[in-house]
Amino acid sequence: MAYNLLKGKRGIISGALNSSSIAWKVAEKAHEEGATFVLTNAPIAMRMGELNALAEKTGAEIIPADATSVDDITNLFTKSQEILGGKIDFVLHSIGMSVNVRKNIPYTEANYDYFQKGMDVSALSFHKMLSVAKKLDAINEWGSVVALTYAAAQRTYSFYNDMADIKAALESIARSFGYHYGVEKKVRVNTVSQSPTKTTAGSGIKGFGDFFDFADAMSPLGNATAEQCADYCITLFSDLTRMVTMQNLYHDGGYSSTGVTSTILEKFGIDS
Ligand code: NAI
Repeated sequence: MAYNLLKGKRGIISGALNSSSIAWKVAEKAHEEGATFVLTNAPIAMRMGELNALAEKTGAEIIPADATSVDDITNLFTKSQEILGGKIDFVLHSIGMSVNVRKNIPYTEANYDYFQKGMDVSALSFHKMLSVAKKLDAINEWGSVVALTYAAAQRTYSFYNDMADIKAALESIARSFGYHYGVEKKVRVNTVSQSPTKTTAGSGIKGFGDFFDFADAMSPLGNATAEQCADYCITLFSDLTRMVTMQNLYHDGGYSSTGVTSTILEKFGIDS
């Protein structure tokens, strides 16, 4: 059911790789809610070709941009305003990649070139997007910028590798930039901390399948799906959350506030 929450709003949505991507669901929902937007992804992701189907379905244009390149991001914000006919109201940063994770390198033996690459792609890219947008004055007052993150930024998950430190940086950028952008332009910046979700990035993490089930059993409401995450992002892009900024917002079925559930205790044969 749609509520026209984004009627007349213009956006930029990064990170839709295939129909499992969280960003893909956000694009579908934003379209249902009346927004117009540009889709963007790394040029290499474009070659996989699936994004065209989403663009067609949502009436969106695609602008390739490597999120580590300030030039690409400048082009993205400049062209998006031309295509959409004005300043931007919402931006989704849905970009994550760690070479150390991909190559299965243990956290304690991190390759630092890979670490820096992961930091650049997954965290500094957020700063770059915000900085370019602010310099170009490309976002309307009360506009909303959201990045996706994971709870390993607060607590240690043995398998999450350098992405834990990278997500901590991402969340800090939301707070720090959110302050300056809020004071100067009334632009809001938040991160959404999502449950484990079966996507290409999520499934790249070793042991993820088992952990997905654990998190599900540890959440009073169960794991939040990509589609539900998209619903939440839409509320943050809407005018109904105008005073929410500089927050890390958990979207995890209650997982982050739960010590243990009876489902988990039962698995250990403990009567609860
Ligand atoms: P996904 O694999 O569908 O999306 C990741 C996207 O990042 C892809 O579209 C990829 O092309 C893009 N990307 C990688 N390098 C890039 C670059 N240099 N420039 C531009 N784009 C680039 O996976 P998912 O899960 O939808 O990931 C989206 C976000 O959600 C990520 O930040 C991820 O860490 C976060 N997240 C995912 C969770 C999960 O369990 N899947 C849980 C919590 C947060």
